[in-house]
This record gives sequence, structure tokens and C-alpha cells, in this order.
Amino acid sequence: MPVTQREVLARTGPGLPAAPSVRRASVALVVTVWTSMTLFGVYILAFYAGAVADRDLPSWNAVLPRLYERDTPTASVAIGLHFAAGGLILVLGCVQLVTPLRQRHPSVHRSLGRVYVTASLLAGLGGLGFIAAKGTVGGPVMDVGFGLYGLLMVAAAIQTYRYARARELVRHRAWALRLFALAFGSWLYRMDYGFWLLLTGGIGHTDDFHGPFDQFMSFFFYLPNLLVVEAYLNGRHRPGSRPARWGAVAALSVATAFLLLGTYFFTVELWGPAILDRLSA
Ligand code: HEM
Repeated sequence: MPVTQREVLARTGPGLPAAPSVRRASVALVVTVWTSMTLFGVYILAFYAGAVADRDLPSWNAVLPRLYERDTPTASVAIGLHFAAGGLILVLGCVQLVTPLRQRHPSVHRSLGRVYVTASLLAGLGGLGFIAAKGTVGGPVMDVGFGLYGLLMVAAAIQTYRYARARELVRHRAWALRLFALAFGSWLYRMDYGFWLLLTGGIGHTDDFHGPFDQFMSFFFYLPNLLVVEAYLNGRHRPGSRPARWGAVAALSVATAFLLLGTYFFTVELWGPAILDRLSA
């Protein structure tokens, strides 16, 4: 049965107020993630769209080989579309999840929501088109991992939109969180690789992404996120004990510290130079 936004809040959130320490640690994590995702999104737009503007498509292959090949135009169009849409999703970032914005400016939420859902569909379908046209660099395991990722993204985008149109806002919110968790995965994938290379020198990773770490990572960047969302949706009303609160603060702070380090590393090595290059072009 359809419910209003007010009823959704009454039923689902904000729920029990978090302790101030947990709230502060959560805000620090969200701000870090948001900043980092935005930087990654701007980098994608600056680097990949910049190469199109410069008519220098071969430079797409600087990070991954074979993204652009003259004799596979369908794959190039599909992956190009997927870059533009993916960059947009990251730059829009967490805006849609900000409760005061949703409450005070529902029309902005609806308009941005349409852009977000359309971009998610294009990112998913573009990625799937690329896989269908020439397969991933990592072969069948990566094809399956990324193929499932694309299908889930398309399904989550459709469900988010469908339930918004039907005014079934509890379900809409749950699917929107799943969609966000999937988009977040594209960013987490790079972070995970950054840390792995930094901490282990890249054990299990090969240049052609056929190593055991690469195969594990073909699924690990999005499936755990979905589990975290399900845990959040099921457990958000349970009050925490004092040790649980301290555990939460510690976990959030460690995650923030790691992400700050990763963001610093990527910004200095890759994202920052590409963005500055484009600004000075
Ligand atoms: C927010 C969403 C997404 C963003 C921001 C994103 C971003 C990117 C970027 C930047 C690359 C180029 C490699 C690099 O520079 O790291 C890439 C490659 C790729 N992405 Fe995505 N992506 C997103 C979602 C998806 C989805 C849903 C799929 C699923 C089909 C997908 C499939 C692929 C594939 C197949 C490649 C090429 C891998 C290869 O060379 O074999 N992406 N993506």
C-alpha cells in the first residue's frame, strides 16, 4: 500500500538517535567518502571525456588496456557512455541521500533522481554492452563478476524508479540504498586495489587481471556492500550498548583514516594530475 514521505520517516527513520560520538564518526566517514567519490567522478569526466574532446581516444588505455580499439567501435561507444554516466553518478554522489534536501526540496530530489536513475541504467547497460562486445581484460571470471554487477545495477535502478512512481516509499528507499551501494562499489574497487598494492605490493594481482586477487575482487567490490545495506535495513532500530557504540566509533574512525590515506594516494598519483591537466588545457 502506497505511503507518504511523512509516513516513511515515521516508520523507517531517522530511527533511534545515534550517540553523539557515533554521529560525529559517521559524519567524518560520509564527508570523506563523498569528497573522494566526487574527486573520482571529476577525474573520470576530466580524463575520459577530455580524451574525446582532444580526439585522442587511444589515451583511454592508460589505466586499462583495450578500452579503446579502432576495430571495435560498438565496444568503444558502450564504454564511453558508461564513463560519462558513471562519472555523473559519482559527482551526484550522496546528494540524493541527504534527508533535509529530500524533505525541503522534493522537486529537486525527484529531478536529480531521474538523472541518477537514467545515468545508472546507462552505466550498467554501457558496461554490459562492452562485456558483450569484447569481454573484460580479466577473462571469464571478471566477465561474470562485472556482468552480474551490471545486471544488479540495472535492476536496482528500475526498482528505485518503479517504487518512487508507485509512491511505495519504504521500498523505494531500500532500493535507492542498494543502488547507491552498487555505485559506491565502482569507487571502492579502485580504493581496494590502491591499498592492496600499497600494503602487499600486489600479491595475487597480474597485469592482465587474471590473478586470484583479481578474480576475488571481481565480486568483492559490490557483494559485501549489498550485505551491509541489508544489515542496516534490518538492524537500524536496535539500540547499541556502550561497548557496541565504542566499537562502532572505532570501526568508523579506522575506515575514515584508511579512506583518507587512499584518497590522498589516488589524488596525488592519478586523479589530481588528470584533473589539473584538463583545467590547464
Ligand atoms: C558508478 C558506476 C561506475 C563507474 C564510475 C565506473 C567507472 C569505470 C572506469 C573509470 C573504468 C575504466 C578503468 C579505470 O579507469 O579504472 C571502467 C571500466 C569498466 N567498467 Fe565501469 N564503472 C561503473 C559501473 C560499471 C558497471 C555497473 C559495470 C557493469 C557492467 C561496469 C563495467 C565495466 C567494464 C566491463 C570496464 C572495462 C574493464 C576492462 O577493460 O576489461 N562498470 N569503469
